[in-house]
Amino acid sequence: MEKQLKVIFSGAQPTGSLTLGNYIGAIQNWKELERDYECYYSIVDLHSLTVKQDPDDFKQANLSFLAQYLAAGLDPKKNVLFFQSHVREHTELAWMLSCFTYMGELSRMTQFKDKADKHKDNINAGLYTYPVLMAADILLYQADLVPVGDDQRQHLELCRDVALRFNNAYGETFTVPHIYLGKIGARIMSLQEPLKKMSKSDENQNGVIHMLDPKDVIVKKLKKAVTDSMNAVKYNDAQPGVQNLMIIHATLSGWTMSEIEAHYQDKGYGTFKMDIAELITGLTEPFREKYAHYMKNPDVLKDVYVNGAERASKKADVTMTLVRDRLGLV
Ligand code: TYM
Repeated sequence: MEKQLKVIFSGAQPTGSLTLGNYIGAIQNWKELERDYECYYSIVDLHSLTVKQDPDDFKQANLSFLAQYLAAGLDPKKNVLFFQSHVREHTELAWMLSCFTYMGELSRMTQFKDKADKHKDNINAGLYTYPVLMAADILLYQADLVPVGDDQRQHLELCRDVALRFNNAYGETFTVPHIYLGKIGARIMSLQEPLKKMSKSDENQNGVIHMLDPKDVIVKKLKKAVTDSMNAVKYNDAQPGVQNLMIIHATLSGWTMSEIEAHYQDKGYGTFKMDIAELITGLTEPFREKYAHYMKNPDVLKDVYVNGAERASKKADVTMTLVRDRLGLV
């Protein structure tokens, strides 16, 4: 079967709200790819069940995430935007793939180790088999490319190994996907601990910029951002705080690192930080407005996710018919 356009799949977990890390590491790239690819962008709600969720809050967070996808500029006509749980084949394929994934492989996943460490009272099987569901998400749509941040690299490698293992055993069934990382910004760090990834659930929320943060909060977080005593805007590993801020600047302004260095040569960190706050709010203020508009229009959201699930299901059905046949299911 000849494919016309190459396929993209990616997703984000609907917990809390999107961070600047999610936007720069993933969503900014999703938007660029929508022009040339057949894109499936999911709200991977089932993945979020690996940690306990309050049902009312979770329902709200799910809708809020769809509104955030739209506010970020993802066009529902060009992209298939949908909830993972609306396409039942994700879990069906996940079961099958779990029979092709080794315990040893899952035990090596650093995210599992980190999360198990963080949620010691709830180290459930879902947390452990999470990467298998993620592989199913991707392989179900025969994705060629998966635009994600650097933290998903290991999961992507596992997905490729499982796809190859299945293909070797049963003949060509799955497209073996490639990771797509942006040139810069694949790992945005915490503003408070620049050696740690910026993460939605960080205990120190001063380190995390949320796309829905009001302007004054963003300015405050930037003012508090950890730098160093060198007072030099230079791109190097000895200044991780400054380096992270320069990456944020570059991805939002389009400037090169040398342009940034030259511009701030005689200016202090204060000016540098406030310019970055300006760049961020230039992005987040219109984002917040669009978000509020979509949240006031639940019918629009419903149209998008119903239509998205229909389109995604069609593709998923073709893959699953092939997979069931390959496995010898009657
Ligand atoms: P999630 O929800 O943690 O993050 C969504 C996307 O944002 C990227 N990201 C970052 N990029 C740069 N800097 C950061 N600080 C940063 N934090 C997050 C993530 O790499 C991701 O691309 N397991 C996935 C969701 C998922 C998925 C999939 C992704 C489930 N199935 C299939 C791709 C394909 C996750 O938890 O992403």
